[in-house]
Amino acid sequence: MPVPPLRLGINVDHVATLRNARGGARPDPVRAALIAIEAGADGITAHLREDRRHIRDTDMERLKAEISKPLNFEMAATPDMLRISLGVKPHAVCLVPERREELTTEGGLDVVGQHNALAPFIARLSDAGIRVSLFISADPQQIEMAARLRAPVIEIHTGGWCDAVVDGHAAKAEAEWQRIVAGAKLARAAGLEVHAGHGLDYQTSETIAGLPELAELNIGYFMMGEALFVGLGETVRSMRAAMDRGRQRLAG
Ligand code: PXP
Repeated sequence: MPVPPLRLGINVDHVATLRNARGGARPDPVRAALIAIEAGADGITAHLREDRRHIRDTDMERLKAEISKPLNFEMAATPDMLRISLGVKPHAVCLVPERREELTTEGGLDVVGQHNALAPFIARLSDAGIRVSLFISADPQQIEMAARLRAPVIEIHTGGWCDAVVDGHAAKAEAEWQRIVAGAKLARAAGLEVHAGHGLDYQTSETIAGLPELAELNIGYFMMGEALFVGLGETVRSMRAAMDRGRQRLAG
C-alpha cells in the first residue's frame, strides 16, 4: 500500500482557553489558525465542547469562513452538536467522547458499545459531505466496529502512550506503542484512513511519523505551550521538521 503524505492538523482550543480566562476577544483562535497555516499546517482542528469551556460557536463559524485549509470539527455525538456542525459544514467531523468533569478527552469513543447510537450520526454527516472520523483507542474490536460503521477515518488516541513516554514508564510506553502499531496496521487493512492525536510532542510525533499507515496527526496542547516561548509559527515549523524526519526513515 502506498505511504500517504503525513498531514499536520493544529488544534487551537487552548488559544480560546487563554482568551476565556479574561472573557475578552484576545488571544484570538482564528488568528492562531491563520499563523499555523502560514507556517505549514495542513488543517485546523477545534473542539466545540458542550460546556463551551474554550471554543465557542462563533469561533467555529469564523474558522470555517476565514481559513484556507480544511477545518476538523471535534464534537460529541449529540443532537445539538449535529445541528451546529451541519450548519458550519466543516471539511471533517471527529466524533469524540465527552464528560463534563474531564480536563481533556480522556479515553476513546466506545464505538462497540454505542454503534447503534453512532450509526445515524455518521450517516447524517456523511450525507452532508462531511468526512467523519471516530476518535478511538487502538483496540482491535473498536477498529473493526469503526470499519463496520463505514466511517472513512479513525483517529487513534495516543494519550496513554505519550504520557508513558513523558513519565519515563518504559514498559508501559512500549506496550502502548505496540498497540498503536498493530492498530494502525489493522485499520489500514480494513480500508480506514488513519489519524492519530492526543498528547503528542516533538519526540512522539517524530516516532509516530514513522508509521506508514498514518495520514494525519492532530496536535494542540504541546504546540500552544511551546508557542509561548518561541512563537506559534516557529513551533509549527519545528513540528513539521520532526514529522519529516520520522517519515524520511521510511524511505531509508
Ligand atoms: N485529537 C483529538 C480527537 C482530541 O480530542 C485532542 C484534544 O482535544 C487532540 C487530538 C489534541 O490533543 P493535544 O491537545 O493533547 O495535542
